[in-house]
Amino acid sequence: MLKLETLISEDELQKRIKELGAQITKDYEGQEIIVLCILKGGVMFMTDLVKHIQVPIKMEFMVVSSYGDEYKSSGVVKILKDLDEPIEGKHVLIVEDIIDSGRTLRYIKSILRERGPQSIKICTLLDKVEQRQTNVDVQYTGFTIENEFVIGYGLDYKQYYRNIPYIAVNRE
Ligand code: IMP
Ligand code: MG
Repeated sequence: MLKLETLISEDELQKRIKELGAQITKDYEGQEIIVLCILKGGVMFMTDLVKHIQVPIKMEFMVVSSYGDEYKSSGVVKILKDLDEPIEGKHVLIVEDIIDSGRTLRYIKSILRERGPQSIKICTLLDKVEQRQTNVDVQYTGFTIENEFVIGYGLDYKQYYRNIPYIAVNRE
């Protein structure tokens, strides 16, 4: 068992997500967005975020597996479930739980770009900026955090702890 300590509370998360939703609404005024959730980690964030977006959206999901151990991603990504619809000419907003090295998103973005969307932007709840190994443009960030392994609110440790309603760190 992990010894959990709150890093970002439920209230802080919801307040920030509301702000992000308002910003996205403003930026995409008069347009339609394909909000693309990268499962499983992004699921809690996506479902809360879309409630605060006031332009027409469609929800899409992608499942990717990154080969790595339980702490680190290798950046080699395999698509296990793809989007249901083509994205040609559409505005795509990728919703992720966390960016660490940036390799996963860089790879996903390169795959999506080949499909001819009008735009691709990235919205991540958490960003470990100092860990970045590869350049990836991020338009919306919930919180910048230190290089610590975090869990909860969609983020897992060995597939557990995703259902914790706040972001926690392990203080063993
Ligand atoms: P990247 O390719 O190094 O940017 O890794 C991003 C992915 O690694 C995320 O989508 C998460 O699945 C996982 N990850 C990175 N850091 C954490 C963490 O602190 N807790 C849980 N998962 C993490
Ligand atoms: Mg993930």
